[in-house]
Order: sequence, then C-alpha cells, then structure tokens
Amino acid sequence: MLRVEVQKPVARVILDRPDVHNAFDDELIIFLKDAFRELGTYKDVRAIVLRGNGKSFCAGADLNWMKRVAEYTRDQNLEDARKMARMFLAIARCPKPVIARVHGAALGGGAGLVAACDIAVAVESAQFGFTEVKLGLIPAVISPFVIARMGSRAREYFLTGERFPASVALQSGLVQHVVPDETAMDALIDTKIAHLVTSSPSAVAAAKELLLATTGKDLDASLEIAVDAIARARASDEGQVGMKAFLQREKPPWIPQ
Ligand code: COA
Repeated sequence: MLRVEVQKPVARVILDRPDVHNAFDDELIIFLKDAFRELGTYKDVRAIVLRGNGKSFCAGADLNWMKRVAEYTRDQNLEDARKMARMFLAIARCPKPVIARVHGAALGGGAGLVAACDIAVAVESAQFGFTEVKLGLIPAVISPFVIARMGSRAREYFLTGERFPASVALQSGLVQHVVPDETAMDALIDTKIAHLVTSSPSAVAAAKELLLATTGKDLDASLEIAVDAIARARASDEGQVGMKAFLQREKPPWIPQ
C-alpha cells in the first residue's frame, strides 16, 4: 500500500496500489500522514521524494472508499474528511523538502498531492486534472494547496474538470519542471537534492514554515511573521555556523563529505 525507502540523505515515499493507479483510501491516507510525520523527525533525511508505483503517480481518492461514506453519520463523514486534510497538511508541514515525481495520471487528490509538495517534476506524458466535478464531487480539501500553486487559473480546471497535459500544469504553476522521460526526471530530481543537501536543514525547514505561515496574510501580518523568522534564523546555531563558515571560507557542517 505504501513503501518508504530511506537511503540517507533521501527518503522515498512510494504509493503502492498500482492496480488502482495508487488511488488513496482511508488506510493509505493514515499511512501517508504517519510516514511524513515520522520522516519529518529523521535528522539525516534531507529530502523526500513522493512517487507512485506502476503506471501512475496517483488517481486521487479511491472512489470505492468515497462511495462508502453514504453509510456514515454526518460526524463520521466530517471526521473522515478531516483525516484526508491532515494527510495533506502532514506533507505541507513536513519540515523536510518534498519533491513530487509525477508520471502517468495525477488526477483529483493526486493533483492535490502534487500541489502539497514543495517541488514538482513531471514527465511530458503525465496527465493532470481536477476531475471531481465529473463525479459529482468537488476538489475541496486540496483546494488551498492547489490555489496556492495555480491561483485563479484553478477556476477553469476546477469547473470544467478537463484533463490537461504536463505543459499546461507547467504554465499554470502546478508543476515547476517538465522533462521528456523518467530518466531525465530522476536526473533533475538528483540535481534538486544536490542543492537541498548543501542548504542548512533548519533553514530549509524554517523557509518552508515561513512560506506556509505567510500564505493568505496581508503585507503587515506577513512582515511581522518574516521579522520573527529572520530574527530566529540569524541567532540560530545553524545561522551562526553558516555565516561563520562563509566568512572563513569553510564548508558548513551540513554539507555531506
Ligand atoms: N478510485 C478507485 N479505483 C480507481 C480509481 C480511483 N480514483 N482510478 C482508477 N481506478 C481503478 C479502475 O476502476 C480500474 O479498476 P478495475 O481494474 O477493477 O476495473 C483500475 O483502476 C484501472 O483503471 P482503468 O480506468 O481501467 O485504467 P486506464 O489506464 O484506462 O486509466 C486512469 C487510468 C487513472 C486515467 C483512469 O482510471 C481514471 O481516470 N480514473 C479516475 C481518476 C479520477 O477521476 N480521480 C478523481 C477522484 S476524486
């Protein structure tokens, strides 16, 4: 259902329900949430790659699971939806940078997973879409993450439910890179990881937190958060060590030997 492979400094989280194009159900949601929360505590993990096994990245919510909620009370239904929200938050709030490696289908909640990651790389042939409306559903829990990426361009795709190619995902900001094939995708991801491991782990975590904390805030509130963030960063151990290392033309200690 979910595989986690840790080869320090990288952890790979692999959606492993290839028979259903890695659609996630209530069980996989819990596994994913727990995996990201736990990996967030691993000191030597400096980047996480999220990918799918088989033909696709992820075909979104498992429709057999979504359908089952007809038997739930409203409270059970709400709690079930909250579990899904916690899973997306676990990725967005994970103190490690998360890279989505996208091939095949990334539909509905699958496209939402892409949006919740920090960096998204897709192959040219990948297919995206917010297909929920075709099923009488809506892209709801994923919407804050998708809108943070695509802005008002999400409107068209939320309403039409049309599937769109990687080139459109790129133009609309859902992914940052499109490459011809999976070999090129892995090579590009390796270059991103090479950059990430030369960055201070605590600074990367703080930068990620800052991005999330300032989302949707007005200028004054954003700057107040930013002032607090830089005050903490420059007085932090890694901030002090990093600046000292630069000034003395030495390597900071977080760079792998
Ligand atoms: N939930 C549950 N099962 C799903 C699924 C989902 N979201 N997406 C695919 N599957 C299942 C199919 O029902 C099928 O099961 P079966 O083998 O028992 O018939 C199996 O995965 C293979 O899917 P199939 O459609 O035959 O493969 P394909 O290669 O032609 O197309 C997709 C793959 C992903 C493009 C297509 O299945 C699809 O569009 N899925 C719906 C995705 C979607 O709208 N997600 C939003 C959910 S909110």
